[in-house]
Amino acid sequence: MCVIHETQLTQRADGRGSLVAIEGLVDVSFDIKRVYYIFGTRPGVRRGCHAHHRTNQFAVCVSGSCRFVMDDGLERVEHRLSGSAAGLLIEPMVWHEMDDFSPDCVLLVLADALYDRADYIADYNQFLALARARHGDLHRLTA
Ligand code: TYD
Repeated sequence: MCVIHETQLTQRADGRGSLVAIEGLVDVSFDIKRVYYIFGTRPGVRRGCHAHHRTNQFAVCVSGSCRFVMDDGLERVEHRLSGSAAGLLIEPMVWHEMDDFSPDCVLLVLADALYDRADYIADYNQFLALARARHGDLHRLTA
């Protein structure tokens, strides 16, 4: 199982420049309930550092780039997100950290749920215990 799911969105370019549209349940696998964006990130900053119980998210660097660390409890993978049409799916129960933001980075994030602090798992050891229990359950179900 791979923890990185990057897709290329359709880029509509003409003599005026480029446009990318993202429609819920069309270009992303979920209905979009919330949009936020991260910008002006200072050098050396790491953001994220949590997983969600239920929320699905989809991240696009509409400008610049940043590095993601994605961890599902079984594998931990680094991935550089770059290009205004590249989208990264952040599924529930995936620990994610973002760092090494370029000075011009604007990281747009779409989510299928409203902001709810109760949906966050911010303690890595708690995340690992939950993720490994879940993977164990899945393994038993498919064995
Ligand atoms: P935080 O969770 O620290 O961001 P990150 O995961 O990138 O490190 O969020 C920063 C602040 O913004 C915090 O006070 C919570 C608030 N916030 C919202 O109000 N709505 C949102 O959708 C998000 C993601 C954060």
